[in-house]
Amino acid sequence: MPHEKIDVNVMALLLSLVFFAGHLAAQDSPVALYDPRIEARIDGLLKQMTVEEKVGQLVQRDAYAGITGLGAEGGTRSEPVARGEIGSLFNLTDPGQINALQKLAMEKSRMHIPLLIGLDVIHGFRTTFPVPLGMAATWDLALVEHASRMAAEEASAAGVRWTFSPMVDIARDARWGRIVEGAGEDPYLGAALARAYVRGYQGKRLDAPDSIAACAKHYVAYGAAEAGRDYNTVDMSERTLRQIYLPPFKAAVEASAPTVMSAFNSLDDVPASANEFTLQGILKGEWKFPGFVVSDYGAIRELIAHGIANDGPTAARRAFLAGVDMDMESNLYPDLIKQVRAGGVREVAVDDAVRRILRVKYALGLFDHPYAPEKPSPAAIPPEYREIARRAAEESFVLLKNEPLVGGGPALPVNSSVRTIALIGPLADDAPDMLGPWHTGGSSPKDVITLRAALAERTAASQMKLSYARGTDIWGDSEAGFAEALEAANGADLVILALGEDADSSAEAGSRAHLGLPGNQQKLLESIAARGKPIVLILFSGRPLALESVIPHVRALVEAWFPGVEAGPALVRILFGDGSPSGKLTATFPRVVGQEPLYYNALNTGRPVDGIDLTHRPRNAAERFHSRYIDEPNSPLFPFGYGLSYTQFAYSPLTLSAKTLSARALNSGRGASLLVSAKVKNTGGRYGEEIVQLYIHQQGTSVARPVRELKGFRRIALAPGESQRVEFIIGREELAFWNIAMKEVVEPARVSVWLGPSSVEGSQACFEINE
Ligand code: NOJ
Repeated sequence: MPHEKIDVNVMALLLSLVFFAGHLAAQDSPVALYDPRIEARIDGLLKQMTVEEKVGQLVQRDAYAGITGLGAEGGTRSEPVARGEIGSLFNLTDPGQINALQKLAMEKSRMHIPLLIGLDVIHGFRTTFPVPLGMAATWDLALVEHASRMAAEEASAAGVRWTFSPMVDIARDARWGRIVEGAGEDPYLGAALARAYVRGYQGKRLDAPDSIAACAKHYVAYGAAEAGRDYNTVDMSERTLRQIYLPPFKAAVEASAPTVMSAFNSLDDVPASANEFTLQGILKGEWKFPGFVVSDYGAIRELIAHGIANDGPTAARRAFLAGVDMDMESNLYPDLIKQVRAGGVREVAVDDAVRRILRVKYALGLFDHPYAPEKPSPAAIPPEYREIARRAAEESFVLLKNEPLVGGGPALPVNSSVRTIALIGPLADDAPDMLGPWHTGGSSPKDVITLRAALAERTAASQMKLSYARGTDIWGDSEAGFAEALEAANGADLVILALGEDADSSAEAGSRAHLGLPGNQQKLLESIAARGKPIVLILFSGRPLALESVIPHVRALVEAWFPGVEAGPALVRILFGDGSPSGKLTATFPRVVGQEPLYYNALNTGRPVDGIDLTHRPRNAAERFHSRYIDEPNSPLFPFGYGLSYTQFAYSPLTLSAKTLSARALNSGRGASLLVSAKVKNTGGRYGEEIVQLYIHQQGTSVARPVRELKGFRRIALAPGESQRVEFIIGREELAFWNIAMKEVVEPARVSVWLGPSSVEGSQACFEINE
């Protein structure tokens, strides 16, 4: 990958020129960061600021790190704030405390520049929605936007005006615990969701008091950590970087996310938080990003452990010159004051970073309205918030299996012949874990309705009997609870098992080398299955698990992720058929951990396994010399895009509006495109929602293209017997890729198109792209 040395001073100059060209486009977006009047005000401030005050704007401190409580006056952070040595604080949720600190910045500091208060508002503030991987499984952009808007309203009421979200890292390896924080493995879906989050957080106007600034993280390629081990090395081709890992960041920036967080990992041997190529070159150069880059927590100090600096000042200089504008909690940027004086860092470069940060503070309206409203927070989550949280949870559930019970219909929804249910498992009545690994200080397990609570209410209303046993812990090997669980199962017509991971098993530093059920849950499952009772498994997890040894023991399986405050009511609605499951996987579920990283949009290789029976060891050379395992099929247990419903959908053959397109016309932006359509019919007996997915494959191009790539999707609702024609446009945006010359262009190709219910099914048609 080229790492051209870009002089940061030249860069700063170029960028201000580029803004004049770029700001017209920026004005079209909902949140225009560039405003000539604001730039003039920033010029005025910069003229008056000392180097110390400028560098102060680049410093971000964790309000609590190393401090045993701030107190109403802001504790040991108050003096540096009053001296203008801190530009941003995070991890505060008390509006009184926030306002006290803000008052110091506004009234005591010489320049009266407001603080920017940040927090990880990842999937809700008080109203906790499903974890992002669950939100992604809804494929419902309007819903994601709505939920993010609600999160912004709640967080801003507490004085938080900046969230470190969305996490837009593509993750192709289920061992990586942070897969829970993102959209999964696909760049197209990831980009669409990135835009939806940004729109939701930032609303129509970023300066509205109930809007918060988004931060696209972790820039970049953090999700490709080798072996799925968090913080580990990343190495990939520039093409993969541009094609797979960058698009969601670009989408967030285009949607006006004003901040980007630089990641912990190294990329091509250069730590992401000191990577000029990705920060100055791509983000600020190619994309003309007008906002600022904040490092991840302590990432600048980590440059020493990475091995590209021997001391703090060098780490600070490297990160700064590479394009990191704000230092999150390494507390190394204050050294830049000396470096400016000594000439190692030019003051214009500092000015550029300060300008970017002030731009965001102005855009948020902080200079005019710096204080939180200090309204008393509602005693309970308002019903309209609960309603969206429940809908989000319901749409996030993915029905992975639903087989008939002996002599009857499908196990789900629960049918009227079931008189007694045994609810068993460590996650059945576990409020804290329902909040997932990244709930905020604004949330509380008291707001969670568990599966047990909701099921108790439902069964009582329908004269069913419900017994409950915890059975076992999530982790650990005690079988003390097994006997009680088996007794409950014995007396039941149906066993609902609530198994899976605890929230801490995923997220940051939550990598796993094993992807089975934790602890002795598999043993509990098998002991209950041995009694011959039908089992419905509700699986809670922050990642795809390897379920090969789980599947044979259950009649039905619902992947529930961590559903948030409305976990119980949403699950009960799905269990009893008030709604039909409609979520679809956005990350591949492997059979076994040895298949990882496993993702649908892979290359075909020169030795694909088409037509080879992979269910046994190869018996001869013809079976052996393929890109395969000798002891496991290549295919996943559940592919990307997969998810069942209580009804069935049939897809008609595809129609294309043209058989050929011209590469020249597509590349010239003359609007060349074709229309793909198919009819989707609800052929079952129930209302249902289907996520129709458009995939393409291109053959004969200068570089190999994935076997399939998602290029469109739509969630449609159909009554029994109803059908709908679903149409998609395929044009330049869908067909361009990073070719052999590393240009994003359309090339002549043979294109296959599928419309279908998952990444391995669908109706297919072909067209040609000529010269
Ligand atoms: C470290 C995490 O990597 C990042 O995602 C988060 O935003 C920061 N800590 C701040 O909490």
